[in-house]
Amino acid sequence: MTQVTFTLNSETVSLETTLSRRLLDVLREDLGLTGTKEGCGEGECGACQVYLDGALVNSCMVPMANVMGREVVTIEGFSQTADYAKIESAYMEEGAVQCGYCIPGMVMATGALLKTNPHPTLSEIKDGLSGNICRCTGYQTIFKAVQRAATEEVDE
Ligand code: FES
Ligand code: FES
Repeated sequence: MTQVTFTLNSETVSLETTLSRRLLDVLREDLGLTGTKEGCGEGECGACQVYLDGALVNSCMVPMANVMGREVVTIEGFSQTADYAKIESAYMEEGAVQCGYCIPGMVMATGALLKTNPHPTLSEIKDGLSGNICRCTGYQTIFKAVQRAATEEVDE
């Protein structure tokens, strides 16, 4: 076991864990942050996405060894921002929220996309969410929601 210290949703967290453990498991099991979901567990579906030093990552593929000293933001932390509020409202208005399982990852991916490309084309939206699987084929409403969110200014 190793003491791992990192920043989580703007607060310092320090815990004992094995360095090979997945960030996803530490978030859900040790820290109770169950907004981050497990889908495939193999880096393919995006349900577990969080920001690591501002970059979108699949937390099921991140060992705790790579988290030491870094900054993690989960859907719980992102939900406190103005960027999130605009995305949430757009998803609701477009009826894009169906299962509630893939959506946290979709929202994190949307936030990452709009941060780097505030006015994406449909093709860029599809590309930006290409790492996220919707198992109930709700993609069209999700893409519309991202388009709607992009019509409003997104705070830096
Ligand atoms: S659970 Fe991590 S990418 Fe699917
Ligand atoms: S909305 Fe989650 S699988 Fe389609």
